[in-house]
Amino acid sequence: MTHPSHTHSTETLAPLHIHEVCVRDGFQIEPVFVPTERKIELVNALSRSGVAKIEVTSFSSPKAIPALADAEAVMRGIERVAGVEYAALVPNVRGAERALACAVDELNLVMSASASHSQANLRMTREQSLAQFAEIVAAAAGQAAINASLSTAFGCPFDGDVPADEVLHWAARLIDLGITRIALCDTTGMANPAQVRRLFHAVTERWPEVTFTAHFHDTRAMGLANALAALDVGITHFDASLGGLGGCPFAPGASGNVCTEDMVHMFEAMGRDTGVDLDRLLTLARQLPDIVGHPVPGQVMKAGPATRRYSLPG
Ligand code: COA
Ligand code: ZN
Repeated sequence: MTHPSHTHSTETLAPLHIHEVCVRDGFQIEPVFVPTERKIELVNALSRSGVAKIEVTSFSSPKAIPALADAEAVMRGIERVAGVEYAALVPNVRGAERALACAVDELNLVMSASASHSQANLRMTREQSLAQFAEIVAAAAGQAAINASLSTAFGCPFDGDVPADEVLHWAARLIDLGITRIALCDTTGMANPAQVRRLFHAVTERWPEVTFTAHFHDTRAMGLANALAALDVGITHFDASLGGLGGCPFAPGASGNVCTEDMVHMFEAMGRDTGVDLDRLLTLARQLPDIVGHPVPGQVMKAGPATRRYSLPG
């Protein structure tokens, strides 16, 4: 059996979990500072859209990521809705302390699968990231869940190919720390669907007890194809960004994440249950150009869903 997810027609299809990252991955790269109040309003509205998790902000150095320098104010300002998980990106022990002080539900620990992106984004070696994570896992016990996001897991804009064995190595090291949630991230849209199928198949075969999330960027227009490839090998957790905003400021050429409402539209059209209210997402996505001051990549927000009908002219 090579594709564990190949479902028989009588089998119930697993519900999908959508993680909204716009307020973090999306806003971190915007040249304008989105006012704290608008971030809070957007998180509060997203909380009522049916997404399973919202990455609210990032407790990175405000010098590295000035767009999210208001992390505490945003995290403390939002209304939490039962059933929604509120996560924050954390690069180091200092970030974890700040996030725990705000009682985040999940620390999303970020490290790179490739040596050069690790230096560019975090000014640490991968071993140094892991040493920080070991401390964080101990400090967070009983307080917050932990996800680890492996950036550049499908390719690095500096180092090029990132061999699957290397990704498996870093995943194994994270799992050795007791981490049970891992996102494989295609930071600059270098993944292709065949590679996605192979890598997610390999990790889910080896660690069936770990929850793996797919985190794709649409930099080279393969984002939705990659999401579908991950779905095909049984992945049910997906990061995505409203309007298709997003990108790592320390990865040359980075651009937007897979667009949440476009991905939800695709999955729902295929008969998969995302739990998300597409109309609500579309309403929110259409506010983004005003918030960030430029058009955004989302497609369904422009065309309307495929269920849209026009009256015949004349
Ligand atoms: N939150 C707030 N401040 C932090 C911090 C954190 N998580 N980590 C470090 N700092 C502060 C230090 O206190 C120090 O402040 P000072 O200059 O006033 O003394 C300063 O930042 C430098 O600290 P240092 O440990 O030397 O960090 P660095 O400059 O080597 O940067 C990181 C390391 C990890 C903090 C930084 O590269 C970073 O935040 N990267 C995250 C990038 C990111 O979020 N990318 C997008 C997601 S993919
Ligand atoms: Zn990303």
